[in-house]
Amino acid sequence: SPDAGSPDAGAPAAAPCPMPPLFDWEFAADPYPAYAWLREHAPVRRTELPSGVEAWLVTRYADARQALADQRLSKNPGHHSERSAHGKGKVGIPGERSANLMTHLLNIDPPDHTRLRRLVSKAFTPARAAEFEPRVRELTDQLIDGFAARGEADLIHEFAFPLPIYAICDMLGVPAEDQDDFRDWAGMMLRHHKPGQPGPPRGGVGRAVKKMRNYLAELIHRKREKPGDDLISGLTRASDHGEQLTENEAAAMAFILLFAGFETTVNLIGNGTYALLRNPGQRAELTRAVEGGDDAALATAVEELLRYDGPVEMATWRFATEPLEIGGERIGEGDPVLVVLAAADRDPAKFDRPDVLDLGRRDNQHLGYGHGIHYCLGAPLARLEGRVALESLLRRLPDVRLAADPSELRWRGGLIMRGLRQLPVQFGAVG
Ligand code: HEM
Repeated sequence: SPDAGSPDAGAPAAAPCPMPPLFDWEFAADPYPAYAWLREHAPVRRTELPSGVEAWLVTRYADARQALADQRLSKNPGHHSERSAHGKGKVGIPGERSANLMTHLLNIDPPDHTRLRRLVSKAFTPARAAEFEPRVRELTDQLIDGFAARGEADLIHEFAFPLPIYAICDMLGVPAEDQDDFRDWAGMMLRHHKPGQPGPPRGGVGRAVKKMRNYLAELIHRKREKPGDDLISGLTRASDHGEQLTENEAAAMAFILLFAGFETTVNLIGNGTYALLRNPGQRAELTRAVEGGDDAALATAVEELLRYDGPVEMATWRFATEPLEIGGERIGEGDPVLVVLAAADRDPAKFDRPDVLDLGRRDNQHLGYGHGIHYCLGAPLARLEGRVALESLLRRLPDVRLAADPSELRWRGGLIMRGLRQLPVQFGAVG
C-alpha cells in the first residue's frame, strides 16, 4: 500500500480485486462470487448486458426490496428510453411482442395491473393450488416410474422439465391430447433439447410463441362456449361478470401463467435437487424428516433452496419513470433497472452465513418470489410442486447420487433465470 505522503495517499482505497466478469461461462456456473463483489464494491452498478442494453444492477437486500416495491419503477417497456439503450438490444420475453402478447401482468402498472391481477387472483387461489396436490403427486409418480427401473436418469429432462408443463396445462384446462404440443413449444422457448440432439432452428422461439398464442386464442374461444372447471374458464367467467378482460388480455394472461410458471419450477426442482445432492448431511436430515411425515420441515427446506440457489436470478425488467436514487446512485428517467434477487438473497447484512445451505433456516424472508404488487402469483403452486417433487425423489430413490463431476455440468444462464441443462444421477434401480 502507498506510503503516507506518496501521491496516492488520501485516494479512495482501490478495490482489493477487480470486478469479476459477468455473464461469461464461469459466471453462469457460479455467479455468487461476482455478486458478492458487486454487493460490496458497487451495489448499484450500471452494466452492459450481453444483449447490448445497459441496465442498473441492484444487488443489496435492502435496496432490492425497496426497488421491487417502488412505484416509480414501471414494468411497462414503453418507459424504456431509447437513449439509455443506445437503440440496441431488446428487453422482455422473446417473441412476446411479435405474437401480440404484451399486455400481461409483468409488463403493466396500476391501474391495469390492479384490475387484471384481481381478476386472475379470483381464479388462481391458494385453495385451488391445494386441491391440485393429488394430481401433482400422480404426475410426479408417473415420471419417476418412467426411469426408476433403469438405475439412472437425467433429472432435468425426465423429471424437472415435464412436471411443471403438465401441471400448468392441467390447471389452465389444456386437454390431455394437446399437452405434448405444449411440451414441444415450451421446450423450444427454453431451447431445451435432448442431450446429443441438435438445438432448435433459428427463429424457432418466435414460431413456438406464435403457435402457442394461436392455440390459446382458440382454446379461450372454446372455453367461452363450453366452460369447464379450469383456470381459462374461470378467467372468461370473471370477464363475463362485468369486469373487462379483452380476448388479447386473456391470451396474454394464459401465456404469462405458462411462461412464469414453467422454467421457474423446472429450475426450482433442478437447482434444489442439485443443492441437496451436494450437501449430504442436510439431505440425510431432510430424508429423515420426510420419512417421519414432517411436512413443515419440507416446506421450510423448499424456502431455503429458493433462497440459496433460486430459479429467478434477476427480477424482470423495471424502468425509471422519473429520475430517482437507489443506494446513493442517480438513476435517470427511462433507465432500465434489474433487481438481482440471487445477490440480495446472499446478502450477509440480511442473512446469517448466507453462503451456507441451512434447510432449517428460520425467518427466511428471501426475495425469490419478488416483493410488492408483482409478488409471484403462482407461489402456492410452485411451493406445492417443489415440496411434492423433492419429497417423492427422496422417498422413492433414497440413494440417488450425482453421476457427473459438478465441473462437467452445464448451466442455462439466461438473464432472468438460472438453471441446469442436465442433472445426471444414479440410484439403486427400483422395480
Ligand atoms: C411473478 C418467481 C412460479 C406465475 C414472479 C416474480 C418472481 C417469481 C420473482 C416477480 C417478478 C418481478 O417482480 O419482476 C417465481 C419462482 C417460481 C415461480 C421462483 C417457482 C419456484 C410460478 C408459477 C406461476 C407463476 C408456478 C403460475 C402458474 C407468476 C405470475 C407473475 C409472477 C403470473 C406476475 C405477477 C404480477 O406481475 O403481478 N414470479 N415464480 N410463478 N409469477 Fe412466479
